[in-house]
Amino acid sequence: MLRQLFARKSIDQLKEEAEGDNQLHRALGPWSLFALGVGAIIGAGIFVLTGLAAKEHAGPALTIAFVISGFGCACAGLCYAEFASMVPVAGSAYTYAYATLGELFAWIIGWDLILEYAMASSAVAVGWSKYVVKFLENYGVYLPPTLYHDPQSYAQSIGALQNNNILKDAGFFQSLKMMFTGELPFSMNVVAMVVLALVTVILVKGIKESARFNTTFVFVKLFVVLMVIALGAPHVNTQNWIPYMPFGWKGVFSAAAYVFFAYIGFDSVSTHAEEAINPQRDVPLGIIGSLFFCTILYIAVAAVLTGMVKYDQIDINAPIASAFAGLGLNWATRIISVGAIAGLSSVLLVLLLSQTRVFLAMARDKLLPYNVFGKVHPKFRTPANSSILTGAVVMLVSGLTPIGKIAEMVNIGTLLAFVIVCGAVINLRYKDPTRHRPFKCPWFPIVPILGIVSNIIMMAALDWITWTRLFVWLAIGFVIYFSYSRKHSAFREKIPTEPVIKTQ
Ligand code: ALA
Repeated sequence: MLRQLFARKSIDQLKEEAEGDNQLHRALGPWSLFALGVGAIIGAGIFVLTGLAAKEHAGPALTIAFVISGFGCACAGLCYAEFASMVPVAGSAYTYAYATLGELFAWIIGWDLILEYAMASSAVAVGWSKYVVKFLENYGVYLPPTLYHDPQSYAQSIGALQNNNILKDAGFFQSLKMMFTGELPFSMNVVAMVVLALVTVILVKGIKESARFNTTFVFVKLFVVLMVIALGAPHVNTQNWIPYMPFGWKGVFSAAAYVFFAYIGFDSVSTHAEEAINPQRDVPLGIIGSLFFCTILYIAVAAVLTGMVKYDQIDINAPIASAFAGLGLNWATRIISVGAIAGLSSVLLVLLLSQTRVFLAMARDKLLPYNVFGKVHPKFRTPANSSILTGAVVMLVSGLTPIGKIAEMVNIGTLLAFVIVCGAVINLRYKDPTRHRPFKCPWFPIVPILGIVSNIIMMAALDWITWTRLFVWLAIGFVIYFSYSRKHSAFREKIPTEPVIKTQ
């Protein structure tokens, strides 16, 4: 059994699998990959979560929080890039782990990536709903609040539960229970659920035009972000930056762990390695380029936002649009809302698409039921069952859970995946030193070690309840692995008796 748990697929085998009949079409050049990265990165993190991060965690020092969390991502990004250039096949970190740390770790990462891609799309859909509401309000259209709030947020918005401590920690299941026992009013974020249903339909039908669609949306949101910076800068009042760190360093680190969400997505570039024309050069470029570019933009937006509005007055629902509404610039609010809606839609598409890719890789390995997660629809040629199931689950989560709770769970899961990837790079450099690495993570082993340390520090800044949820999530994953995946694993039959990673 132990041999199976730690059995590794050889990189050559992975490449062979990817080069077989099932090969995806190689159509993505460096700009498409960069756009894919930016498309996945800029979303609810900057448009929504910055509000709460500034108001309750960092104050104006939100800029430092973005630097810290960008640093952790950059280290992990360099490690992802090394792997992606070496193993340019679909599946991202899941596949890398299979090649280096063995099946059990691959499973843990794959299971963990569900938090990153599927759960993050729930959070993004909630963010989307907030901007849609803001946009409609700007035209005097007011939706019933029970249609765009989860039960907890609704109760809080009507001031019903101000002193309720249980609520602070309540997640999906507790909310559901409290709603049915009448402790919470009935409310569901239907707006968020609708957008997820739409994106699911697009994914099921196939998105031939996806790259062009994505590029257009990326331009729209870049335009809006640049507009926020250019238009907001003259309205900065430096007095608002004082005190700079109202919650001290502790607040800055917890904000970093929170806005970490804003960077999630750069690694989805690596899930498309199999579709890149020149993966060895362009995938690392796409990852690092998009990450660096977004970090600069985030720091600028954070500085402008906290300069325009005193941190304790920032709106936590649609902070950026509201900052402009506060100045009476309603036309700007409208443009920002439209940009945010477009931007968040593209994030949703990339995240859900990446999720089905990871499921596909896991189903090909039979760690998940092939009929559900691997089967391609005869007419649409897409993994339709997998997309529908994923869509249904993320809809439920987004309808009933506050965005902050989902984001914390996404963050802890993704941080863990990053730590494992950094560890795996170190591991493979020693185990297989001579393998050709078209892109090498610079300053080895300092960068991967810094990646591990900084990401663990951010994990430590998250509260115990988020940790508990992570352990529960991993425990469920273990139960599934040991009761199903281990027995069905396609690789089980082929476990080699010799070291699997051949040197060249
Ligand atoms: N980074 C993505 C966002 O902020 C997930 O929406």
